[in-house]
Amino acid sequence: MAEHPGFTVWLTGLSGAGKSTIAQHLAQALRRRGMKVEVLDGDVIRQNLSKGLGFSKADRDTNVLRVGWVAQVLSRNGVAVIAALISPYRETRNQVRAKIPNFVEVFVDAPLEEVIRRDVKGLYKRALAGEIPNFTGISDPYEPPERPEVVCRTAEETVDESVGKILAYLEQQGWLLPEQA
Ligand code: ADX
Repeated sequence: MAEHPGFTVWLTGLSGAGKSTIAQHLAQALRRRGMKVEVLDGDVIRQNLSKGLGFSKADRDTNVLRVGWVAQVLSRNGVAVIAALISPYRETRNQVRAKIPNFVEVFVDAPLEEVIRRDVKGLYKRALAGEIPNFTGISDPYEPPERPEVVCRTAEETVDESVGKILAYLEQQGWLLPEQA
């Protein structure tokens, strides 16, 4: 086993819960520790790898399984992969989990009222007005993980606290060396 075995940190949660923010901060922290890092962010993936896919269950599953495949091949080559996708379906996330040995499911948990209040992209307002069909949390389901390795409650903790929990888990598993003094 190399000094740094690869792993996949899979951030799941509602739009606006803080997945991309945690992903970026986590990526920086892992790079500082000498790891090769790739962030696979839903908004970016949907502009290239998953361009043309919509938000039906079938299309979301295709999106999630594609990203899962990329995460699998990268992480088995020693890369720290951070995936940030709503990935609303439990069964589909579990299919990805089954294929990746070092898999860390992180539930980025923010109450629906809070993400509606934040409405970073203005999409909840439009979804609530009926302008966006199948919008996760409004007119489409979100199935929270039953046994996530880490839970980040972004309405109650800072980004650094959330990232710290994930780093601590990775260290506990022996997949990340503790920070050098
Ligand atoms: S997933 O369900 O397939 O995992 P993904 O994370 O890639 O979703 O994309 C979610 C992003 O797409 C949201 O953050 C939002 O910006 C945008 N989006 C557009 N339409 C929808 C919709 N109907 N439901 C959820 N997100 C949507």
